[in-house]
Amino acid sequence: MAERPDSRVTRGHLHYGRMNEPSHSLPPIRVLFVCLGNICRSPLGEALFNHHAETGGLAERFRVDSAGTAAYHVGEPPDRRSAETARRRGVRLSGRARRLEPEDYFDFDHIVAMDRENLADILAARPEDGTATIHLLRSFDPRADGDDDVPDPYYGGPEGFDHVHDIVDRSTRALLAHLTRESR
Ligand code: 4NP
Repeated sequence: MAERPDSRVTRGHLHYGRMNEPSHSLPPIRVLFVCLGNICRSPLGEALFNHHAETGGLAERFRVDSAGTAAYHVGEPPDRRSAETARRRGVRLSGRARRLEPEDYFDFDHIVAMDRENLADILAARPEDGTATIHLLRSFDPRADGDDDVPDPYYGGPEGFDHVHDIVDRSTRALLAHLTRESR
């Protein structure tokens, strides 16, 4: 009787469960989006990054979360205006606000700041031996035009939420492409 071919193959340190689906057995790339309150911009970053990953068939390659540098809104759901804008444009915001923790610098491969103030706060709180790579989201925006910040929409009018949605949509798409290329 012919021997059944083994569907598992090993190349170097990578263990492939199935020959045609090698990426599924790689550890997920862990990405944390961070803004000030974790109710407007970073939950949107999380949702849009996940949306683009799902659309591209890459959802299993990533584990995504969000947090805030400040504790004002800990435990609250996403801001109603941000959630409504996102819903109208096809994505659902989820989760409850939490604060950025020291463990996040070890538990995530990438921490992504929404503006330069967030970036400064993230860098200031970084444990010396933290392993995460820290980024500024708009450095990936193909239309940033020299503007490094995703503007804080909290105290502005409703049009601010659409503007933020546009920026985060473009930037997360480009960030996903960058991280996917980098992990090959
Ligand atoms: P986020 O927006 O940082 O995008 O979640 C804000 C939420 C709350 C406040 C400021 C910005 N706040 O001052 O309470």
